[in-house]
Amino acid sequence: MSAEFVCTIADLAPGEARRVELAGGVAIALVRDDAGGFHALADVCSHGNVALSDGEVDGTTIECWLHGSTFDLFTGRPLSLPATRPVPVYPVTLEGERVLVDATTPANR
Ligand code: FES
Repeated sequence: MSAEFVCTIADLAPGEARRVELAGGVAIALVRDDAGGFHALADVCSHGNVALSDGEVDGTTIECWLHGSTFDLFTGRPLSLPATRPVPVYPVTLEGERVLVDATTPANR
């Protein structure tokens, strides 16, 4: 599998996150940080089986809505308990206005 079109830049405002199901069956949390950068993380918190895309974006982190762990959008690492394991982060590329995600290989593994 190669990079897959997920949305256009205008589809997601800074500070927003949304769940995207990719063709290979991988669900990602597509997140736009407060500075406008795009990030793609596996859409499951490493502490429990809930969607990170339902969390709150703050700067370059997203906070899990269930128990409050925050994850670094660049590395997928938890920055606060109770989560202790990172979530997979996938490469995002921009082609003009198009946002592409390659879920073949996590960038942080
Ligand atoms: S399920 Fe996400 S911090 Fe517990």
